[in-house]
Amino acid sequence: MPHPIIDTMNRPFIECRNLTKRYRKGTIDVTPLEALDLEVAPAEFLALMGPSGSGKTTLLNLLAGVDSPSDGELHIGGFDLTRLSRSQLTRWRAEHVGYIFQLYHLMSVLTAFENVELPLLLQPLSRKERIRRVEAVLELVSLADRMDHRPNELSGGQEQRVAIARALVADPPLLVADEPTGDLDRESATAILDLLKGLARDHQKTIVMVTHDPRAAAAADRQLHLEKGKLVHNGEAVLS
Ligand SMILES: Nc1ncnc2c1ncn2[C@@H]1O[C@H](COP(=O)(O)OP(=O)(O)OP(=O)(O)O)[C@@H](O)[C@H]1O
Ligand SMILES: [Mg+2]
Repeated sequence: MPHPIIDTMNRPFIECRNLTKRYRKGTIDVTPLEALDLEVAPAEFLALMGPSGSGKTTLLNLLAGVDSPSDGELHIGGFDLTRLSRSQLTRWRAEHVGYIFQLYHLMSVLTAFENVELPLLLQPLSRKERIRRVEAVLELVSLADRMDHRPNELSGGQEQRVAIARALVADPPLLVADEPTGDLDRESATAILDLLKGLARDHQKTIVMVTHDPRAAAAADRQLHLEKGKLVHNGEAVLS
């Protein structure tokens, strides 16, 4: 079934055309992504699956503006990412992307509040406004009562919710998540997936989530498979 928003909006939120990433290691060329075409609708929740080394993280890093393509086109929310300079891309990323990792990547010496506050310290906001925003996102991930806890005083699921709050605090339209439930038990994973679904449905976040877990993928609106740097469908390369 097509995502409903695809039918009503003129343009996808993410558009990749012929997207290619190549690395040169000495005399060897590695091509983790090859001529990939992909469209993602606004507020769509997309799951990306595929074997280890198939290019999933490489694709997420391009979508997040962490890395730049070697070839092809990449438009996100009306921005042509291939035309942005390094510093423009850094700024674009801070405003438009929240990145969620498998192992949370929280600062162990900081409290949940301080971890979530970090991305806002780069923005010209008053202390009062910062506190308001941090408290609002911690409330959204149901951790208002754990603000003063440090990561080692939280469960894995709670740590991941802090990491999601940190990814959300600057209110970016795009969330990318690399195996966000990979390190969690089933119950905590379900809570994280419900949270992500709600962020797409109720807060219009576009979400691209990499996962090895078919249950996690099933929570998304659509599932795509990568193999050797190409999108595949039922084992066949997707033809554009
Ligand atoms: N900086 C780099 N330099 C050279 N090769 C790289 C670099 N980053 C990734 N690769 C190669 O690109 C390929 C895809 O890597 P990628 O990390 O995207 O895989 P993945 O699908 O995320 O795998 P996993 O499920 O294990 O996380 C691999 O062969 C990897 O060795
Ligand atoms: Mg990976």
